[in-house]
Amino acid sequence: MNPLLAKKTVSDLQKTDEGHAGLRRALNPLQLVALGIGAVIGAGIFVLTGQAAAQCAGPAIVISFLISGVACALAGLCYAEFASLIPVAGSAYTYAYATLGELVAWMIGWDLILEYALGTATVAVGWSGYVVSFLHGFGVMLPPALTAAPGVNGVGVFNLPAFLAVLGVMALLILGVRESANVNTAIVGIKLLVIAAFLIFGVMHLHPANWRPFLPVNTGHFGDFGWSGVLRGAGMIFFAYIGFDAVSTAAQEARNPQKDMPIGILGSLAICTVLYILVALVLTGVVSYTKLGVPDPIAVGIGAMGLAWLAAIVKLGVICGLTSVMLVLCYGQTRIFYTMAHDGLLPALFSRLHPRFGTPARATVLLGVLVAIIAALTPIKLLGELVSIGTLFAFVVVCGAVIYLRRHQPGLERPFKCPGVPWVPLAGILVCLYLVVGLPPETQIRLLTWLAVGLIIYFAYGRYHSKVSGTNP
Ligand code: ALA
Repeated sequence: MNPLLAKKTVSDLQKTDEGHAGLRRALNPLQLVALGIGAVIGAGIFVLTGQAAAQCAGPAIVISFLISGVACALAGLCYAEFASLIPVAGSAYTYAYATLGELVAWMIGWDLILEYALGTATVAVGWSGYVVSFLHGFGVMLPPALTAAPGVNGVGVFNLPAFLAVLGVMALLILGVRESANVNTAIVGIKLLVIAAFLIFGVMHLHPANWRPFLPVNTGHFGDFGWSGVLRGAGMIFFAYIGFDAVSTAAQEARNPQKDMPIGILGSLAICTVLYILVALVLTGVVSYTKLGVPDPIAVGIGAMGLAWLAAIVKLGVICGLTSVMLVLCYGQTRIFYTMAHDGLLPALFSRLHPRFGTPARATVLLGVLVAIIAALTPIKLLGELVSIGTLFAFVVVCGAVIYLRRHQPGLERPFKCPGVPWVPLAGILVCLYLVVGLPPETQIRLLTWLAVGLIIYFAYGRYHSKVSGTNP
């Protein structure tokens, strides 16, 4: 067989140690929904909403949130089918290995670096914005040159807080700290409280004039307001939904996957969509969207309400929430590297465990330092767009893989079945591609360049070291 098409079989995967076959079916639908909310709510809503409203869509960012929510719901159903069929942590990478073969799997694994590693960097930049703002509230001023990437606001040189945040998360991961269910529940509670407080006080301070015009007219450039701005905004804030696939990896731990997976995935998505729309509405209602292109738009919103006491509490809540999202994303990246190295597509360094901590310590240090440097030197908008486009690409492949596997292996037992195949996955592919088209051409070129580099690495290394295709038995 052509080694590029080498596959892992679904039944093998279900048996291997990559799976969670021994895990207890303990999670109820509510816990699954909490898992989703814990992984999802982060820099997207707390930071990128402001940037996207200020630069792309104005108050119509609300519509952008709806469009992105639909894309995620369609892809989420496909993730749920795979998650219940192949309950392993490698996510889209493993799904692709089982269906479309090694080359596509490698490309997806490579692409997922954009989602997880760059996602960590994006959230770190958001974290930095709120830490700076929080300290500012107590009269502690960090030098502007050390709180933003080069070129940002004309003063940035190195985003030190973002750099340190990633290193801190890296250290926790090396020590083996993972989000326990209890910590997750607490963090979800904090995030929901922060959002509830913002909404309740915000509603009391609305100035409806800020919503006019709701859809600012296009400036003559694609993506600068008008409908194309709504589309570009949707691509940008798509980032806010990333992480719900974390629910899908818990499929084997769900008490009743057939019923609970869609509740977990779609339930957390629905709650986040409603919250996001409300936050976007209130935020653009308390402050003019033109003032929201800042690192801490929620704090700017509260500032406009004149509630200094609330600002400090909310900022602290946001900082906690963003820390947990960084942990989830960075952990996900090391786990995907681990699986890829196990398959021989990456050097063994990535799957070597530390003798005492039992974690892939060296790989985590390597990853952490690289991500920290990227976080220190890159503006959040650019990072967010790259993460969005990388994830949209992965979603397209997962939707396509569902159609492919239904056709080629119809007899497999699927504890959860995506409804309306092939139409639902097809619609997912179309909406995701639509969002990709709306993102700036430079971002599309960056994705293609990234994939081209991945292709070169595969043919220079992975192809000859793969344990699955047998080129390296
Ligand atoms: N959805 C996550 C966030 O917004 C990644 O931070």
